[in-house]
Amino acid sequence: MTRIAIFASGNGSNAENLIRNLTHGRVVLLLCNNPQAYVLQRAKRLHIPTVLFSKEELEDPSHEYSVLKLLKTHKIDFIILAGFLWKIPEDMIRAWPKKIVNIHPALLPKYGGPGMYGDHVHKAVMENGEKETGITIHIVDPQYDHGHIIYQESFQIYSSDTPKTIALRIHFLEQLRFPKVVDDYLKQLFKDPAV
Ligand code: GRF
Repeated sequence: MTRIAIFASGNGSNAENLIRNLTHGRVVLLLCNNPQAYVLQRAKRLHIPTVLFSKEELEDPSHEYSVLKLLKTHKIDFIILAGFLWKIPEDMIRAWPKKIVNIHPALLPKYGGPGMYGDHVHKAVMENGEKETGITIHIVDPQYDHGHIIYQESFQIYSSDTPKTIALRIHFLEQLRFPKVVDDYLKQLFKDPAV
């Protein structure tokens, strides 16, 4: 069984959806960098062990409590970033090649990179008069919001839309698609049967 770790920094609606609905792997660990994040409560409710970590623990593999060592101890096969705001260090990307995926609330390569998260993305999209926006699921590489795209879906922006309505529409689409896209990718990667 493919053992999955989810990284999240905030609300965690995507993390919860993945925990509940993935069928080609099991989420065995939730990692978070923000002690106030609601995702911690969601994971506890779903009986998923949680770990809070610091920037040093993420970035320094020789740290006594490094995230890299922790993931290895838990025999993690695959990593999902679901609303995680820090950059993944290169040693982790090397250790899990093509096995770290991220979801981004825009049509990459546009509206990605440092500072492009949450409402900042939707405001920028609207300010630039874009006609459409959407979601992107991609493999994580050393650059922010950059790796190979495995799934993208767009929708039209209406004249009545605001950054708030765009956010709601993005969340709806993410809830609908993220587990299935990850499942299909896991199937192809590990050839595991469904649970
Ligand atoms: C999602 O919109 C995702 O695309 C982005 O961060 C948001 C996280 O939302 N990377 P939630 O914490 O899963 O509710």
